[in-house]
Amino acid sequence: MKTQVCIIGGGPSGLMLSQLLHLKGIDTIVLERQSREYVLGRIRAGVLEHGFAALMREAQCGERMDKEGEIHDGFIIAHDGKMDRVDLHKYSGGSSVVVYGQTELTRDLYEARDRMKGIVIHNAEDVQPHDLKSANPYVTYRSGDEVVRIDCDFVIGADGFHGVSRKSIPRDVLKEYEKVYPFGWLGVLSRTKPVSPELIYAKHERGFALCSLRSQVLSRYYIQVPLTDTVEDWSDEAFWAELKRRLPAEVAAQLITGASIEKSIAPLRSFVAEPMRYGNLFLAGDAAHIVPPTGARGLNSAASDIYYLYHAMVAHYKDGDSTGLDKYSEKALARVWKAQRFSWWMTTMLHTFPDSIAYDQKLQDTDLAYLFSSEKALGSLAENYVGLPF
Ligand code: FAD
Ligand code: DHB
Repeated sequence: MKTQVCIIGGGPSGLMLSQLLHLKGIDTIVLERQSREYVLGRIRAGVLEHGFAALMREAQCGERMDKEGEIHDGFIIAHDGKMDRVDLHKYSGGSSVVVYGQTELTRDLYEARDRMKGIVIHNAEDVQPHDLKSANPYVTYRSGDEVVRIDCDFVIGADGFHGVSRKSIPRDVLKEYEKVYPFGWLGVLSRTKPVSPELIYAKHERGFALCSLRSQVLSRYYIQVPLTDTVEDWSDEAFWAELKRRLPAEVAAQLITGASIEKSIAPLRSFVAEPMRYGNLFLAGDAAHIVPPTGARGLNSAASDIYYLYHAMVAHYKDGDSTGLDKYSEKALARVWKAQRFSWWMTTMLHTFPDSIAYDQKLQDTDLAYLFSSEKALGSLAENYVGLPF
């Protein structure tokens, strides 16, 4: 097989790039290790910045998001018995975020790829990129007993944190920066009315909690748990009881509980791999960087990589201008590191660290006190949360 751009990974990053390039007449093949049902069964991001939403529209995939997604102009931080609101609209100069689940937007992207007869190969085993430094790279995968070869101009590594692409870059070229947090988030999805129309981030001595949502009938809640906990340790009853303990009493009293329809634990990690280009391989999204979910930056950071790559590829193929490709890694990393800083800061301010000393706790309190006493601090939070410009 032959294509112009071979994309490894059929998550939001890979599908979005494939769709955008297709609309500009650039040929792609997407290789996804899992089945479509598996990919659509993963419950992940819920909060999209406007840059992401704009990219969905440009990819002709924004119709359902615009109809069913909710615009959120603010969120609440509950701490020390108080409920302080961050007015995103006011402090970001009129911007907001869109609450629309990653599962739904991935479904929309798959449907668009099907509609346009885009090639997405599922259950592709042993995917391996080759000859990345040459002008003729290729990717192989196994389908049953058959090994298939795809010749291409470029390989895109959009295969998430555990993918094969980043691992194809030699050790002496790749530099990895990593910070692992001593806790995870236990998430529950339930078919219940959300406890609050806006998200509530709750700082509590027992641990952080987040009340989020997917729609007015679908709630998503998270609690901070030790890394040693497993999903089996948490019955639905135990989860709801612990969530209530960490929420302000008036919120806990309003919480409608129900059977969980999904329950999973995600460890928290900050990670960046540099550079994001090796020869004709370009990394994008979680394949190159991970943030703890606290600032809702992960998928949104993937979107800016895709935006840069998309424009760079179009300039290369349509105008013979490769400057965008040459500058991709540097440009993408500049924004990636800002998302890293913001996510680390939100995480540090709102979580309970097992080894923290009294001094650290005083600083956490002061961080929040400063935030809600300074319009400039709120402005900084708001501009990062709604998304820095691409
Ligand atoms: P992925 O979604 O990981 O997709 C990669 C794909 O590649 C997968 O489908 C995988 O099966 C496939 N793959 C892997 N290896 C191979 C291989 N060898 N060959 C072929 N295919 C392969 N972000 C936000 O912006 N806002 C939020 O509110 C938010 N909330 C989150 C909450 C949680 C609990 C978690 C865990 C994450 C959250 N995120 C959030 C982060 C967001 O989900 C990720 O950043 C996003 O999924 C990245 O998309 P991606 O396409 O780059 O990678
Ligand atoms: C979700 C929402 C967030 O704001 C966040 O920071 C992390 C996750 C969610 O709804 O899944």
